[in-house]
Amino acid sequence: MRILVTGATGFVGRALLPALLDAGHDVLAGTRHPDTYDGPGLPVAADVGDPEQLSAALDGCDAAYYLVHAMEGDPRGDFAARDRRSAEVFAELAAARRLKVVYLGGLDSADTVSDHLRSRLEVGRILRERAGAVELRAAVVIGAGGSSFRMLQGLVEKLPVLVAPRWVDSRCQPIALGDVVRYLAAALDLPAGHYDVAGEQVLTYEQMLLGYARIRGLRRTLVTVPWVPAGLSARGVALLSGLDLALVEPLIEGLAVDVVAADDRIRALVPFDPLDYEQSVRAALAPTTTPAAAA
Ligand SMILES: NC(=O)c1ccc[n+]([C@@H]2O[C@H](COP(=O)([O-])OP(=O)(O)OC[C@H]3O[C@@H](n4cnc5c(N)ncnc54)[C@H](OP(=O)(O)O)[C@@H]3O)[C@@H](O)[C@H]2O)c1
Repeated sequence: MRILVTGATGFVGRALLPALLDAGHDVLAGTRHPDTYDGPGLPVAADVGDPEQLSAALDGCDAAYYLVHAMEGDPRGDFAARDRRSAEVFAELAAARRLKVVYLGGLDSADTVSDHLRSRLEVGRILRERAGAVELRAAVVIGAGGSSFRMLQGLVEKLPVLVAPRWVDSRCQPIALGDVVRYLAAALDLPAGHYDVAGEQVLTYEQMLLGYARIRGLRRTLVTVPWVPAGLSARGVALLSGLDLALVEPLIEGLAVDVVAADDRIRALVPFDPLDYEQSVRAALAPTTTPAAAA
């Protein structure tokens, strides 16, 4: 198949490209900066906010991955509107070409969700309803360079005493980057619809933070301080992780609710045993298995 991967320079896209090439596909690496792209696949200009450019990139393709979000560098906080517009244009162009569309978004939550999680679900709905997409829904993806994983690393590596807000009690079902890549590659053959993808364990963020410390051999104490304002906690995490505050703020907001898989239909359709949390972290920390090394 000839496949366009949007977000090819991102955390997930970088890891997916080698897997698609290994499977024998003809892969276009979609980015807004093809001139400086030095990864695998054929670089192609594919700004999802530019319908003409996106249309040219999709011409001749059989399938396309949507691995893009507009949070980074968005101090005005209007990422949801931009992501909605981009998804609508992408869906229209993909449907006109009858492309197989695969999207990786976020797990749904029974509680009121954050702007970020709501936006990820909205993009998924648009792509499914208008382009018959396969939407995979994941919580935190554990892998070197992932934004949520970098937030966790920044906190544990740099602070001997972790002063954490109430969100440390929220539950999450993280998944290893390698397992997400397996599901994404297999999604080309899945019927349209949404599928939760998750690792073996449901953990609180406290268990994830202290579990990471244990794996790294670091002595860490966690103190819960319920009244830490969300803005302050986001600024601290941005500083410690080196990530853009515009990216960290919506991600921190999303930690307030449980994000746990509601269905495991994909386990029968794509049968393998996902890694547990400790295995996922060890894989993320192993230099030879980082996406950059794989690329
Ligand atoms: N990371 C996680 O833990 C996690 C968890 C669950 C779901 N997901 C989902 O996985 C997908 C990919 O996330 P990620 O973590 O890989 O993101 P990322 O590392 O932050 O990368 C974002 C990508 O978006 C691209 N991008 C931004 N604006 C664009 C535009 N206007 N046109 C084209 N490309 C644009 C960037 O490419 P250029 O700058 O090269 O153009 C970059 O490659 C997202 O849908 C995310 O919601 C991620």
